[in-house]
Amino acid sequence: MNADKRPVAVVTGGSAGLGLVIARTLLSHGYRIVIMGRDEGRLEAAIATCGNQEPGRLLGQVCDVTSRAEVEELFSTVGQTFQRLDVLVNCVGASDRGLVENLDVEQLGTLWDQNVVTALLCSQASIPLLEASSGAIVNIGSLAAKVGARYIGGYSTVKHALAGMTQQMRLELKPRGIHVALVSPGPIARSDAGDRYRDSIDGTLPPQASAPGGGARVKGLPPERVAAAVMKCIRRGAVDIVLPGHLRILIALGHAFPRIGDWLLLKFTSSK
Ligand SMILES: NC(=O)c1ccc[n+]([C@@H]2O[C@H](COP(=O)([O-])OP(=O)(O)OC[C@H]3O[C@@H](n4cnc5c(N)ncnc54)[C@H](OP(=O)(O)O)[C@@H]3O)[C@@H](O)[C@H]2O)c1
Repeated sequence: MNADKRPVAVVTGGSAGLGLVIARTLLSHGYRIVIMGRDEGRLEAAIATCGNQEPGRLLGQVCDVTSRAEVEELFSTVGQTFQRLDVLVNCVGASDRGLVENLDVEQLGTLWDQNVVTALLCSQASIPLLEASSGAIVNIGSLAAKVGARYIGGYSTVKHALAGMTQQMRLELKPRGIHVALVSPGPIARSDAGDRYRDSIDGTLPPQASAPGGGARVKGLPPERVAAAVMKCIRRGAVDIVLPGHLRILIALGHAFPRIGDWLLLKFTSSK
Protein backbone atom coordinates (compact mmCIF):
# COMPACT_ATOMS: atom_id res chain seq x y z
CA MET A 1 0.00 0.00 0.00
CA ASN A 2 1.47 3.37 -1.09
CA ALA A 3 0.70 5.99 1.56
CA ASP A 4 1.70 8.92 -0.67
CA LYS A 5 -1.53 10.49 -1.90
CA ARG A 6 0.01 13.07 -4.23
CA PRO A 7 -1.24 12.78 -7.81
CA VAL A 8 0.85 11.05 -10.47
CA ALA A 9 1.27 12.11 -14.12
CA VAL A 10 2.93 10.45 -17.10
CA VAL A 11 4.22 12.77 -19.84
CA THR A 12 5.26 11.05 -23.06
CA GLY A 13 8.02 12.95 -24.85
CA GLY A 14 8.85 14.63 -21.56
CA SER A 15 12.60 14.59 -22.19
CA ALA A 16 12.59 17.61 -24.53
CA GLY A 17 10.67 20.54 -25.96
CA LEU A 18 7.08 21.10 -24.95
CA GLY A 19 6.82 17.81 -23.02
CA LEU A 20 9.59 18.87 -20.65
CA VAL A 21 7.89 22.22 -19.98
CA ILE A 22 4.61 20.41 -19.29
CA ALA A 23 6.42 18.04 -16.88
CA ARG A 24 7.96 21.01 -15.03
CA THR A 25 4.54 22.68 -14.80
CA LEU A 26 2.96 19.53 -13.36
CA LEU A 27 5.83 19.31 -10.86
CA SER A 28 5.08 22.88 -9.74
CA HIS A 29 1.46 21.81 -9.16
CA GLY A 30 2.51 19.02 -6.79
CA TYR A 31 2.45 16.04 -9.14
CA ARG A 32 4.82 13.11 -9.09
CA ILE A 33 5.95 12.64 -12.68
CA VAL A 34 7.16 9.96 -15.03
CA ILE A 35 8.66 11.31 -18.26
CA MET A 36 9.22 8.98 -21.19
CA GLY A 37 11.58 9.05 -24.14
CA ARG A 38 13.70 6.61 -26.13
CA ASP A 39 17.09 8.05 -25.15
CA GLU A 40 18.29 7.51 -21.58
CA GLY A 41 20.91 10.30 -21.72
CA ARG A 42 18.29 12.77 -22.90
CA LEU A 43 15.96 11.75 -20.05
CA GLU A 44 18.75 12.23 -17.50
CA ALA A 45 19.65 15.62 -18.94
CA ALA A 46 15.99 16.66 -18.80
CA ILE A 47 15.68 15.59 -15.17
CA ALA A 48 18.83 17.57 -14.34
CA THR A 49 17.09 20.76 -15.59
CA CYS A 50 14.28 20.29 -13.06
CA GLY A 51 16.34 21.11 -9.98
CA ASN A 52 16.76 18.96 -6.90
CA GLN A 53 13.72 16.76 -6.48
CA GLU A 54 13.08 14.36 -3.64
CA PRO A 55 13.85 10.73 -4.62
CA GLY A 56 11.07 9.20 -6.69
CA ARG A 57 9.35 12.54 -7.40
CA LEU A 58 10.51 12.72 -11.04
CA LEU A 59 11.35 9.51 -12.89
CA GLY A 60 12.63 9.03 -16.41
CA GLN A 61 11.66 5.81 -18.21
CA VAL A 62 13.11 4.64 -21.49
CA CYS A 63 10.18 3.57 -23.63
CA ASP A 64 9.43 3.70 -27.34
CA VAL A 65 5.75 4.59 -27.23
CA THR A 66 5.15 3.23 -30.72
CA SER A 67 5.69 -0.27 -29.24
CA ARG A 68 2.66 -1.86 -27.57
CA ALA A 69 4.85 -4.26 -25.56
CA GLU A 70 7.05 -1.46 -24.18
CA VAL A 71 4.05 0.74 -23.40
CA GLU A 72 2.20 -2.03 -21.55
CA GLU A 73 5.30 -2.84 -19.50
CA LEU A 74 5.78 0.84 -18.69
CA PHE A 75 2.22 1.37 -17.40
CA SER A 76 2.41 -1.86 -15.42
CA THR A 77 5.56 -0.46 -13.74
CA VAL A 78 3.79 2.85 -13.07
CA GLY A 79 0.91 0.97 -11.43
CA GLN A 80 3.25 -1.10 -9.27
CA THR A 81 5.41 1.89 -8.28
CA PHE A 82 2.72 4.45 -7.45
CA GLN A 83 -0.51 2.40 -7.26
CA ARG A 84 -2.20 5.27 -9.04
CA LEU A 85 -2.18 7.43 -12.16
CA ASP A 86 -4.10 10.69 -12.41
CA VAL A 87 -2.95 12.28 -15.66
CA LEU A 88 -1.55 11.11 -18.99
CA VAL A 89 -0.20 13.78 -21.35
CA ASN A 90 0.40 12.37 -24.83
CA CYS A 91 3.00 14.83 -26.09
CA VAL A 92 5.11 12.68 -28.44
CA GLY A 93 4.59 13.89 -31.98
CA ALA A 94 6.55 15.15 -34.94
CA SER A 95 5.99 17.23 -38.04
CA ASP A 96 7.68 17.16 -41.43
CA ARG A 97 7.47 19.18 -44.60
CA GLY A 98 5.90 18.29 -47.90
CA LEU A 99 2.81 18.29 -50.09
CA VAL A 100 0.19 15.54 -49.95
CA GLU A 101 0.77 15.21 -53.69
CA ASN A 102 4.23 13.81 -52.92
CA LEU A 103 3.51 12.07 -49.59
CA ASP A 104 4.61 8.46 -49.80
CA VAL A 105 2.86 5.80 -47.79
CA GLU A 106 5.96 4.95 -45.79
CA GLN A 107 6.37 8.55 -44.63
CA LEU A 108 2.66 8.74 -43.83
CA GLY A 109 3.10 5.56 -41.74
CA THR A 110 5.96 7.15 -39.79
CA LEU A 111 3.91 10.28 -39.09
CA TRP A 112 0.93 8.13 -38.15
CA ASP A 113 3.01 6.12 -35.67
CA GLN A 114 4.55 9.24 -34.11
CA ASN A 115 1.37 11.28 -33.78
CA VAL A 116 -1.52 8.81 -33.49
CA VAL A 117 -0.29 5.33 -32.51
CA THR A 118 1.71 6.77 -29.59
CA ALA A 119 -1.38 8.42 -28.11
CA LEU A 120 -3.55 5.38 -28.85
CA LEU A 121 -1.26 2.85 -27.16
CA CYS A 122 -0.54 4.98 -24.08
CA SER A 123 -4.21 5.87 -23.63
CA GLN A 124 -5.31 2.24 -23.94
CA ALA A 125 -2.71 1.05 -21.44
CA SER A 126 -3.55 3.78 -18.92
CA ILE A 127 -7.35 3.38 -18.87
CA PRO A 128 -7.57 0.98 -15.89
CA LEU A 129 -5.40 3.26 -13.71
CA LEU A 130 -7.15 6.44 -14.86
CA GLU A 131 -10.57 4.92 -14.28
CA ALA A 132 -9.63 4.20 -10.67
CA SER A 133 -8.60 7.84 -10.11
CA SER A 134 -11.23 9.51 -12.37
CA GLY A 135 -8.20 10.94 -14.12
CA ALA A 136 -7.50 12.76 -17.37
CA ILE A 137 -5.82 12.27 -20.74
CA VAL A 138 -4.56 15.35 -22.58
CA ASN A 139 -3.46 14.90 -26.18
CA ILE A 140 -1.20 17.50 -27.78
CA GLY A 141 -2.48 18.36 -31.23
CA SER A 142 -1.52 21.38 -33.30
CA LEU A 143 -3.25 24.06 -35.33
CA ALA A 144 -2.65 21.46 -38.05
CA ALA A 145 -5.15 19.25 -36.17
CA LYS A 146 -7.82 21.86 -36.91
CA VAL A 147 -7.02 23.27 -40.34
CA GLY A 148 -4.84 22.52 -43.34
CA ALA A 149 -1.73 24.57 -44.00
CA ARG A 150 0.87 24.97 -46.71
CA TYR A 151 3.78 22.49 -46.84
CA ILE A 152 2.79 20.31 -43.86
CA GLY A 153 0.34 18.03 -45.62
CA GLY A 154 1.28 14.75 -43.90
CA TYR A 155 1.39 16.33 -40.45
CA SER A 156 -2.01 17.97 -40.94
CA THR A 157 -3.44 14.63 -42.09
CA VAL A 158 -2.33 12.72 -38.98
CA LYS A 159 -3.01 15.51 -36.47
CA HIS A 160 -6.59 15.70 -37.80
CA ALA A 161 -6.84 11.96 -37.09
CA LEU A 162 -5.54 12.58 -33.55
CA ALA A 163 -8.21 15.26 -33.05
CA GLY A 164 -10.91 12.84 -34.20
CA MET A 165 -9.59 10.07 -31.98
CA THR A 166 -9.49 12.46 -29.02
CA GLN A 167 -13.15 13.40 -29.33
CA GLN A 168 -14.10 9.76 -29.85
CA MET A 169 -12.18 8.76 -26.72
CA ARG A 170 -13.81 11.60 -24.75
CA LEU A 171 -17.29 10.32 -25.64
CA GLU A 172 -16.38 6.71 -24.88
CA LEU A 173 -14.55 7.36 -21.60
CA LYS A 174 -16.81 10.01 -20.06
CA PRO A 175 -19.17 7.40 -18.56
CA ARG A 176 -16.12 5.79 -16.95
CA GLY A 177 -15.10 9.05 -15.31
CA ILE A 178 -12.04 9.74 -17.48
CA HIS A 179 -11.75 13.22 -18.99
CA VAL A 180 -10.10 13.42 -22.42
CA ALA A 181 -8.94 16.73 -23.89
CA LEU A 182 -7.05 18.16 -26.85
CA VAL A 183 -4.69 21.13 -26.79
CA SER A 184 -3.89 22.47 -30.28
CA PRO A 185 -1.09 25.02 -30.29
CA GLY A 186 0.34 26.99 -33.17
CA PRO A 187 4.12 27.10 -33.66
CA ILE A 188 5.96 27.12 -30.33
CA ALA A 189 8.84 29.52 -29.70
CA ARG A 190 12.17 27.68 -29.29
CA SER A 191 15.76 28.48 -30.15
CA ASP A 192 15.93 25.99 -33.05
CA ALA A 193 12.46 26.78 -34.44
CA GLY A 194 13.70 28.01 -37.84
CA ASP A 195 16.28 25.23 -38.34
CA ARG A 196 14.45 22.00 -37.53
CA TYR A 197 13.07 21.29 -40.99
CA ARG A 198 15.76 22.90 -43.12
CA ASP A 199 17.01 19.46 -44.24
CA SER A 200 13.52 18.21 -45.14
CA ILE A 201 13.07 20.81 -47.86
CA ASP A 202 13.65 19.22 -51.23
CA GLY A 203 13.59 20.97 -54.59
CA THR A 204 9.79 20.92 -54.72
CA LEU A 205 9.31 23.32 -51.80
CA PRO A 206 10.28 26.97 -51.37
CA PRO A 207 12.73 27.82 -48.53
CA GLN A 208 10.03 29.36 -46.31
CA ALA A 209 8.44 25.89 -46.06
CA SER A 210 11.05 25.12 -43.38
CA ALA A 211 9.79 27.98 -41.19
CA PRO A 212 7.62 27.18 -38.12
CA GLY A 213 4.16 26.05 -39.18
CA GLY A 214 5.36 25.81 -42.78
CA GLY A 215 5.53 29.62 -42.90
CA ALA A 216 2.19 30.33 -41.19
CA ARG A 217 1.97 33.96 -40.08
CA VAL A 218 1.47 33.12 -36.41
CA LYS A 219 3.77 34.33 -33.65
CA GLY A 220 5.65 31.58 -31.74
CA LEU A 221 3.88 30.66 -28.50
CA PRO A 222 5.76 30.42 -25.18
CA PRO A 223 5.64 26.71 -24.27
CA GLU A 224 4.59 27.72 -20.73
CA ARG A 225 1.35 29.04 -22.22
CA VAL A 226 0.68 25.66 -23.79
CA ALA A 227 1.47 23.95 -20.47
CA ALA A 228 -1.01 26.29 -18.73
CA ALA A 229 -3.66 25.15 -21.23
CA VAL A 230 -2.89 21.52 -20.35
CA MET A 231 -3.43 22.40 -16.66
CA LYS A 232 -6.78 24.00 -17.58
CA CYS A 233 -7.86 20.71 -19.15
CA ILE A 234 -6.79 18.76 -16.07
CA ARG A 235 -8.07 21.08 -13.34
CA ARG A 236 -11.09 22.73 -14.96
CA GLY A 237 -12.20 20.09 -17.41
CA ALA A 238 -11.53 22.14 -20.55
CA VAL A 239 -12.08 19.87 -23.54
CA ASP A 240 -10.53 21.48 -26.59
CA ILE A 241 -8.15 24.43 -26.44
CA VAL A 242 -6.72 26.22 -29.47
CA LEU A 243 -3.72 28.53 -29.03
CA PRO A 244 -3.62 31.38 -29.80
CA GLY A 245 -7.28 31.48 -28.77
CA HIS A 246 -8.48 34.05 -31.30
CA LEU A 247 -7.79 31.56 -34.11
CA ARG A 248 -10.71 29.47 -32.82
CA ILE A 249 -13.03 32.06 -34.39
CA LEU A 250 -11.32 31.71 -37.78
CA ILE A 251 -11.46 27.92 -37.49
CA ALA A 252 -15.19 28.01 -36.66
CA LEU A 253 -15.77 30.42 -39.54
CA GLY A 254 -13.90 28.09 -41.87
CA HIS A 255 -16.00 25.10 -40.77
CA ALA A 256 -19.23 27.03 -41.34
CA PHE A 257 -18.08 28.64 -44.60
CA PRO A 258 -15.28 26.49 -46.12
CA ARG A 259 -14.62 28.79 -49.09
CA ILE A 260 -13.97 31.72 -46.75
CA GLY A 261 -11.91 29.41 -44.50
CA ASP A 262 -9.68 28.38 -47.43
CA TRP A 263 -9.27 32.01 -48.50
CA LEU A 264 -8.20 33.01 -44.98
CA LEU A 265 -5.79 30.07 -44.68
CA LEU A 266 -4.05 30.93 -47.94
CA LYS A 267 -3.93 34.59 -46.89
CA PHE A 268 -2.36 33.86 -43.49
CA THR A 269 0.15 31.28 -44.69
CA SER A 270 3.00 32.42 -46.85
CA SER A 271 3.56 31.07 -50.36
CA LYS A 272 6.77 33.03 -50.84
N1 LIG B 1 7.25 22.48 -31.67
C1 LIG B 1 6.19 23.11 -32.15
O1 LIG B 1 6.27 24.24 -32.67
C2 LIG B 1 4.82 22.46 -32.01
C3 LIG B 1 3.67 23.19 -32.43
C4 LIG B 1 2.42 22.59 -32.29
C5 LIG B 1 2.32 21.32 -31.77
N2 LIG B 1 3.44 20.63 -31.40
C6 LIG B 1 3.28 19.29 -30.85
O2 LIG B 1 3.84 19.29 -29.55
C7 LIG B 1 4.39 18.01 -29.28
C8 LIG B 1 5.84 18.15 -28.83
O3 LIG B 1 6.57 18.74 -29.89
P1 LIG B 1 8.08 19.26 -29.66
O4 LIG B 1 8.45 19.96 -30.92
O5 LIG B 1 8.17 19.98 -28.38
O6 LIG B 1 8.84 17.86 -29.59
P2 LIG B 1 10.42 17.58 -29.59
O7 LIG B 1 11.18 18.74 -29.05
O8 LIG B 1 10.80 17.06 -30.94
O9 LIG B 1 10.52 16.40 -28.53
C9 LIG B 1 9.94 15.17 -28.81
C10 LIG B 1 9.98 14.34 -27.54
O10 LIG B 1 9.33 13.10 -27.79
C11 LIG B 1 10.25 12.02 -27.55
N3 LIG B 1 9.91 10.96 -28.48
C12 LIG B 1 9.86 11.03 -29.83
N4 LIG B 1 9.47 9.84 -30.33
C13 LIG B 1 9.27 9.01 -29.28
C14 LIG B 1 8.87 7.66 -29.14
N5 LIG B 1 8.59 6.91 -30.22
N6 LIG B 1 8.77 7.13 -27.90
C15 LIG B 1 9.05 7.87 -26.81
N7 LIG B 1 9.43 9.17 -26.86
C16 LIG B 1 9.56 9.72 -28.10
C17 LIG B 1 11.64 12.63 -27.73
O11 LIG B 1 12.64 11.93 -27.04
P3 LIG B 1 13.53 10.79 -27.79
O12 LIG B 1 13.83 11.30 -29.16
O13 LIG B 1 14.74 10.63 -26.90
O14 LIG B 1 12.68 9.57 -27.81
C18 LIG B 1 11.39 14.00 -27.09
O15 LIG B 1 11.39 13.90 -25.68
C19 LIG B 1 4.21 17.18 -30.55
O16 LIG B 1 3.03 16.41 -30.44
C20 LIG B 1 4.05 18.23 -31.62
O17 LIG B 1 3.32 17.75 -32.73
C21 LIG B 1 4.70 21.17 -31.50
